[in-house]
Amino acid sequence: MVKQWLIILAALVFPGAALAAGGYPVYPDDEIKVDWDDKAAMQRGARTYMNYCMGCHSLHYSRYNRVGADLGISDDMMRDNLIFTTDINGERTKVGALMTNNMSAAYGEEAFGVVPPDLSLVARSRGTHWLYNFLRGFYVDEERPFGVNNGVFSNVGMPHVLVELQGLQKANYETVTDSAGNESQKIVGFEQVKAGSMTADEYDRAIYDLVAFLDYVAEPYKQTRKNVGTGVIIFLLCFLVLAYALKREYWKDVH
Ligand code: HEC
Repeated sequence: MVKQWLIILAALVFPGAALAAGGYPVYPDDEIKVDWDDKAAMQRGARTYMNYCMGCHSLHYSRYNRVGADLGISDDMMRDNLIFTTDINGERTKVGALMTNNMSAAYGEEAFGVVPPDLSLVARSRGTHWLYNFLRGFYVDEERPFGVNNGVFSNVGMPHVLVELQGLQKANYETVTDSAGNESQKIVGFEQVKAGSMTADEYDRAIYDLVAFLDYVAEPYKQTRKNVGTGVIIFLLCFLVLAYALKREYWKDVH
């Protein structure tokens, strides 16, 4: 009973932990630390997102021009290079529009078995660590409908959409025995079986950029909040000095 409560508590505190507690092998498991000041990375991530993800996953809390203003992408640049959708009249979507796509829930359900979720808040619900590994965790599995499985999201309904960049990798397994004596297969490494257009390092970098973009989208005010927070603390410290000096001045004659 206590153990169950601990798992629930852990799941609330660390969203990724619940998956690990589920027992299936999680691989890869590399660290990522997003630099909130790195606008260039976020711009590259936005480009990858618009090209490879937007068709299935909308970002319906964001507007194109707001993302542009935050990341330093001009409206013209946005319109010419990053907007690929059209509105109901068949005209190119306006830069002031919300970042939705044209896929209906019914189509998504039929094509993938699950509707591809909106990814506006995924960096918060799943965390950047999970995303970074999930997007690098696709491996060949002929038994799956799209020929790939994922080391972080077992039996995922999403195809490996970045296969032309990463190429294909196969998983190497090791048999592990848990404390109760049950044997299971655990992924311990990947091996490249088909080259993509990027090297492994370049692909990791591209995924870092993509995750940085999703992290920004999930909380556009993060950087502002940090700056305002620092300003407020500095103000309070200055005020403390003043208030203390004033207090000394007032009480000087009393003692
Ligand atoms: C062809 C459609 C398609 C494309 C393109 C696509 N996805 Fe997906 N994605 C899916 C589907 C379907 C799911 C749901 C999988 C499931 O629940 O089994 C999914 C799930 C996800 C999830 C897990 C969401 C969650 O919290 O459960 C993430 C993260 C994700 N996709 C990121 C991306 C990124 C980043 C790209 C672009 C590089 C991308 N996807 C491109 C179809 C797509």
